[in-house]
Amino acid sequence: TDPSVIRNFCIVAHIDHGKSTLADRMLQNTNVVASRDMQNQFLDSMDIERERGITIKSQAVRMPWQVDGQDYILNMIDTPGHVDFAYEVSRSLAACEGAILLVDAAQGIEAQTLANLYMAMEHDLEIIPVLNKIDLPAADPERYALEISNLIGVDPDDVLKVSGKTGEGVEALLDRVVSVVPAPSGTVDAPARAMIFDSIYDTYRGVITYVRMVDGKLSPREGIRMMATGAEYELQETGVYSPDAIPGKGLGVGEVGYLITGVKDVSESKVGDTVTTKNHPAEEAIGGYSEPQPMVFSGLYPIDGSDYPALREALEKLQLNDAALSYEPETSVALGFGFRVGFLGLLHLEIVRERLEREYNLDLISTAPNVIYNVTTEDGTVVRVTNPSEFPEGKIMEVEEPMAMATIIVPSEFIGAVMELSQSKRGQLDGMDYLSEERVEIRYWIPLAEIVFDYFDLLKSRTKGYASLNWQRDGSQVADLVKVDILLQGDTVDAFSAITHRDHAYSYGVKMTSKLKELIPRQQFEVPIQAAIGSRIIARENIRAIRKDVLSKCYGGDISRKRKLLEKQKEGKKRMKMVGTVEVPQEAFIAALSTD
Ligand code: GTP
Repeated sequence: TDPSVIRNFCIVAHIDHGKSTLADRMLQNTNVVASRDMQNQFLDSMDIERERGITIKSQAVRMPWQVDGQDYILNMIDTPGHVDFAYEVSRSLAACEGAILLVDAAQGIEAQTLANLYMAMEHDLEIIPVLNKIDLPAADPERYALEISNLIGVDPDDVLKVSGKTGEGVEALLDRVVSVVPAPSGTVDAPARAMIFDSIYDTYRGVITYVRMVDGKLSPREGIRMMATGAEYELQETGVYSPDAIPGKGLGVGEVGYLITGVKDVSESKVGDTVTTKNHPAEEAIGGYSEPQPMVFSGLYPIDGSDYPALREALEKLQLNDAALSYEPETSVALGFGFRVGFLGLLHLEIVRERLEREYNLDLISTAPNVIYNVTTEDGTVVRVTNPSEFPEGKIMEVEEPMAMATIIVPSEFIGAVMELSQSKRGQLDGMDYLSEERVEIRYWIPLAEIVFDYFDLLKSRTKGYASLNWQRDGSQVADLVKVDILLQGDTVDAFSAITHRDHAYSYGVKMTSKLKELIPRQQFEVPIQAAIGSRIIARENIRAIRKDVLSKCYGGDISRKRKLLEKQKEGKKRMKMVGTVEVPQEAFIAALSTD
């Protein structure tokens, strides 16, 4: 295809601002799908994504469009909307020359959209500002057009107004894409270079790699090389999606399509890597490649210990499709055999957990998520801690924690609430900008551990749900952090150890000891529950002793009832865990670990 008729673009939008609806409407207007096939939205493919309304995996669709009798090819590249997947967003943007900035005309721009807009601007994309849902009675396009014009410096009249639902303005938007998004530039006779912006595991075809061709050409049956990993494969098939896969004779400059190489694991076809040919390899890879870095860790344990092999198998399978997922086995006194799993962020964690429970039928318990700490001990060794149990004993010289820059957008009446919360979470104000008279962007430099813990939930509740949050990793700081252990009868219960700031250690200790006192049944002897920093006890509760006599409840009489009770007790015993000499029902651990 002649690159001059190609337009590559993506849609940057907040969750629920109507990206999928608009994308579907475009597919319909360009006759890529007939309206009667429109029940399912095409760009979201996984169930969980659809239910949560979050587009996780980016894909691409090719649409023909005519302007003034000239045929064009529009490639729409889907971008994930959530902060956990910022790297995937950056690669999708890098595959485009233009971006539609889609904003709900009744809501205005939100923090994650702003972050993605800035990223699109850094990639020099042509921005097409669009207000969506203008059919809504609550829509206020004039007001939000002004907000957008302040942000990106366009005339408010140049902000397009559309409705994905009624279709109003959508054809004009397609025309605008053709007229303002630059055609791709690239060298036709240079060695091939294609950037991978997504790769997906398919049960039937193996890994499907989505690429944007930059230079040269890739053809079926050619030998290819992944420049970052050095791996070499034979190309089995190339093609485009419109909306179904259409195999072709190859991909040339500016084109967006897919490659199939027969590899079985997405980690062999990494997002951001450059594909070249084995015979005429390019000298330099396309910039911007990096490995996904897990930032949040949590222990995942099967509630039923015999599910452990099934959990391992399920994690192996999920990893085929998720290069950012990492895990290793771990054991816990309280929870038995499980895995320490690394995630990009909390949403990533939730999605993985939900898929394990839903698609693999596993009942799981997860320990409180934590970040990575660098702990320097007295003799100068630095220990990387992804699990409180790895926190070194003895004297600690220094603990370094990861930091994040958080961007919050709220109505200005909530500035005080946001500042109060952020300061209580050890945040430092970085700056504040008014988007309009009523809405403000506030930036805080804040420990990642606090964000991962409960910052977003609290932010939402203290701003009546109006705040939107975006964050990115931003350096680290030395802080007065300690490990708090929870002890039963003098024995540490590993699953409850936590790394917290010294100022918050006491409240954590009190909360956990009193929770456990409620949850653990009385034993034959008195059981102290303690919270400790090293050998220093900071909180204590007691479970008083009782004489366990189940049968006394039966008032003599009915034999079958007695037997039933005994059987029940026996069954309960199977699920007991021994911590030292203390018998604890596993349910107590699970209840204590679940956040309220
Ligand atoms: P994610 O997939 O989570 O990113 O959401 P999305 O941005 O793709 O939103 P989606 O298209 O699923 O739309 C969100 C909600 O807004 C749905 O209930 C849609 O029916 C509704 N919606 C989308 N576009 C319009 C529109 O133009 N007008 C009205 N009234 N509602 C719309």
